[in-house]
Amino acid sequence: MSDTSKNEELQKMREKAYEGGGAERIEAQHNRGRLTARERLDLLLDKGSFHETDMFVTHRTHDFGLADRKYLGDSVVTGWGTIDGRLVYVFSQDFTVFGGSLGEVHSEKIVKIIDMALKNGAPIIGLNDSGGARIQEGVVSLGAYADIFLKNTLASGVVPQISAIMGPCAGGAVYSPALTDFIFMVRNSSYMFVTGPDVVRTVTHEEVSFEDLGGADVHASISGVCHYVAETESDCLYMIRLLLSYLPQNNLEDPPFKATSDDRLRTDEALDTIIPDEASIPYDMIEIIRRVVDNGAFFQIHENYARNILVGFAHLGGHSVGIVANQPSVLAGVLDINSSEKAARFVRFCDSFNVPIITFVDVPGFMPGTTQEHGGVIRAGAKLLHAFCEATVPKITVVTRKAYGGAYDVMSSKHIRGDLNLAWPNAEIAVMGSDGAVSIIFRKELAAAVDPVKTKAKLVKEYREKFANPYVAAARGYLDDVIEPRLTRPRLINALEMLANKRDSNPAKKHGNIPL
Ligand code: HXC
Repeated sequence: MSDTSKNEELQKMREKAYEGGGAERIEAQHNRGRLTARERLDLLLDKGSFHETDMFVTHRTHDFGLADRKYLGDSVVTGWGTIDGRLVYVFSQDFTVFGGSLGEVHSEKIVKIIDMALKNGAPIIGLNDSGGARIQEGVVSLGAYADIFLKNTLASGVVPQISAIMGPCAGGAVYSPALTDFIFMVRNSSYMFVTGPDVVRTVTHEEVSFEDLGGADVHASISGVCHYVAETESDCLYMIRLLLSYLPQNNLEDPPFKATSDDRLRTDEALDTIIPDEASIPYDMIEIIRRVVDNGAFFQIHENYARNILVGFAHLGGHSVGIVANQPSVLAGVLDINSSEKAARFVRFCDSFNVPIITFVDVPGFMPGTTQEHGGVIRAGAKLLHAFCEATVPKITVVTRKAYGGAYDVMSSKHIRGDLNLAWPNAEIAVMGSDGAVSIIFRKELAAAVDPVKTKAKLVKEYREKFANPYVAAARGYLDDVIEPRLTRPRLINALEMLANKRDSNPAKKHGNIPL
């Protein structure tokens, strides 16, 4: 065979691989409103940057007539490319080949690419579209999944791992994404469940649709499994590109600097009056965040889950930051089980990848009640406490209004290694709200009072004047400064730069035991 015909043969094989499961199945994929594995990679990666690995791999199974059904590359496309010029490793499951199901060689391809990502210190992005374990391969496919779970776990905290769910993901197909840092889903097109509606009907006699069992909105708002819901596949892939702009390539790097046109010294007078005079009136913390960060751009994570706390990424003076903020407009910003877990996971991510954490505090305390107590709010709150305590990245805290009780301690207080703790002048930092405090410490006096209502009002006023301000905490150095709200942006940027070379560490240990 001449060199030319060898090249032609190679080209033919490539074209065969590009066909995946064949034209008919590609059409069926398009008819479902979904892109193919390769089309997705084209949208995710910089144009022309994709380099494929293992295109000629085929499965080794003979059972159930599979020997006659081999597809070049099997049911996943793997390789590397760039996003905004930065290296990433990728895998994209091909639903047109055995429904993207995962067997021995599919797993080997993914394991190889995760190993390369780990060795070379770059993020790994998985585009998932899979019916789970390849049923024809039996127990081999279970082992194949476990090989990936192990790699995901070892890669955790070393390189960012991002998963997009682009179709129906069942069985084993959900656990690898669950081990990664962020899960993106597409509304009305992606599903995640351990067991599908048919099995559910058989076992629990529940009738439930794909959407109601494991659709994007269910996982974004009820289970908390999904971090971001996109309207379309291309929106989803674009948002993954955007997320990476806040992240370093690996745990040994700092996040990239993003030059900004937003003035570093910009002050904002509207912040001076943004907090309502009456402490019980809510306001939207997102507005404060947007007014402070570069060009108002706040990339919210977990937007529809535990909405009483906000987490997400932004830039401040070009520096990437993770933001954690109580949201007074939802449940008064109270901490509960879900919000504690949401924030704890985010804080740990930021700490793993050297992203400084800015914490905006307006928290009335922990949510009382049997539902919370019996559900383990103690354990959940302890998770957030543990996460903030162990974090060694720069930690800057701004108390905008309330910081009461245990929640004051938890929300990145000075005592748990807050590097710079600031408050606005209207902040109230105290062991508990004035009303509750007076009811407890003056119980006898109130019982004996001629006019208990008037007496209580007087005592509450006295208590408020004494304790509901930032100066008791500031007098003890629990706050480093009290600042005019309008100065928040320049003060935060200055603090980030002051802390740029921060070095802190925890005692040597195998790992801590966060109260999971
Ligand atoms: C082998 C599979 C498959 C699988 C789908 N296919 N799932 N092949 N193993 N797990 C094949 C189908 O035979 C079909 O092949 C093609 O993929 C497309 O599937 P359809 O059913 O036609 O598509 P659709 O109607 O869109 O339904 C998609 C689906 C459904 C919801 C994913 O296929 C399904 O329910 N699959 C089984 C899901 C499941 O129970 N997985 C759990 C496996 S056990 P042809 O040749 O017709 O195109 C597991 C445990 C691991 O994962 C635990 C590890 C911890």
